[in-house]
Amino acid sequence: MEDNEVKSKKVYLSNYGCQMNVRDSEVICGLLKDSGYKICSDEKQADVIIFNTCSVRQHAEDRVWSQIGAFKKTGTVKRKRNLRDSPQETGTVPIIGIVGCMAKNYAEKIFERSPDVDFAVGPQDIDKIPDILSRLSRNKEQSPKSGDSPLFQSKIWETDGQIRPDEIYHNNFYQDKEHAYLVISEGCSNFCSYCVVPYVRGGLRHRKVENILREAQGAIAQGITRITLLGQNVNAYQNGDIDFSGLLQRLDKIDGLKQINFFTSHPKDADPDFFKVIRDSQKLVKSLHLPLQSGSDKILKLMNRGYSAKEYLALIDSYRKIVKGGLLTSDIIVGFPGESEDDFSRTFELVNKAEFNAAYIFKYSPRPHTEALKMADDVERADKEKRHARLLELQRGISNKKNAKRR
Ligand code: SAH
Ligand code: SF4
Ligand code: F3S
Repeated sequence: MEDNEVKSKKVYLSNYGCQMNVRDSEVICGLLKDSGYKICSDEKQADVIIFNTCSVRQHAEDRVWSQIGAFKKTGTVKRKRNLRDSPQETGTVPIIGIVGCMAKNYAEKIFERSPDVDFAVGPQDIDKIPDILSRLSRNKEQSPKSGDSPLFQSKIWETDGQIRPDEIYHNNFYQDKEHAYLVISEGCSNFCSYCVVPYVRGGLRHRKVENILREAQGAIAQGITRITLLGQNVNAYQNGDIDFSGLLQRLDKIDGLKQINFFTSHPKDADPDFFKVIRDSQKLVKSLHLPLQSGSDKILKLMNRGYSAKEYLALIDSYRKIVKGGLLTSDIIVGFPGESEDDFSRTFELVNKAEFNAAYIFKYSPRPHTEALKMADDVERADKEKRHARLLELQRGISNKKNAKRR
């Protein structure tokens, strides 16, 4: 496509999932802007609609399908069949893409579920999006999808990439004027038995220290003063002989950077030394997100978490002693396969004791590829709901009490 043709194209991007996806969406917008596209906030005006998706729970995927359905109802997304019937409508039908974790999870099966989707791009292939769009636009202009062509003929999917070129992080597109997310590691190799992330994001890869520092400096030159370091397990960061603490020491020294946060940590890689790093860093926010997942040793083992309830309690005790007044938040899953009332009451008791400032509580959702998928999803839906509601209520009370104290 000629550059001036691209320039008139508008892209609407809808984001789902974790902070990693928020950052990926910025990266995609940055790449597209560099290729001449305009980012727009009204899907009705868009020539290209991109869904950056999440597969962590069924609910996350359902939201994307229902959004596509809703766009269809409002006429934003038209059935491609219309296009075959009346090819003169080419210009009015936007190109639609599903990118991110769902694209990796389903690859070309996406098009069977929704023939309206034109392309699917996995998280490790997002650098290819500008090229894919220009290929799709060319195809559209030369030969509108012909009625007798098989479904896949006009589709593009790129989902097998292994690594991202580091350059994609340096285009300096940030949604916020003062705050930026900064990826320090990609993927995850922990294989918690319920979790799809290692399958959709690949194994753990650490970015190079010099690249992280260069990105931070670029962001700060644009006026950013606060940074949140991102990784599925940031405290396991290692690049050569530089670990998370070494990385923080280097970030601490950057002029103009006022505050650093980080997300997420894994209990099996957290220890008192790590807490001392949090205590001693000048710029780190004194806050730790340390997902518990369950308070039952039996369930923790089935989840492949690598710690016991007792070890978890000892860990947070140590955190609170070292990082005085530090905030503590967590994630918990209820209704994991085999979770009995007794297992749940152990979680309930631990949450009661732990006194998190906040906790996200999720109902177990069986995911493709995972080990837990082989176990029977045997906790009745009604029990999952009940346990979810009981924990939410407990945590709400604790959060209120803690917040009142902090005021
Ligand atoms: N890497 C991070 C978080 C990944 S996903 C970590 O390990 O903490 C965020 C949260 O979603 C997880 O902590 C877990 O509580 C929840 N989660 C992941 N898979 C799930 C599933 N299959 N069903 C329900 N909740 C799930
Ligand atoms: Fe998933 Fe576990 Fe990795 Fe977190 S640590 S992303 S829960 S496999
Ligand atoms: Fe979802 Fe992918 Fe993040 S599955 S939680 S968007 S890593």
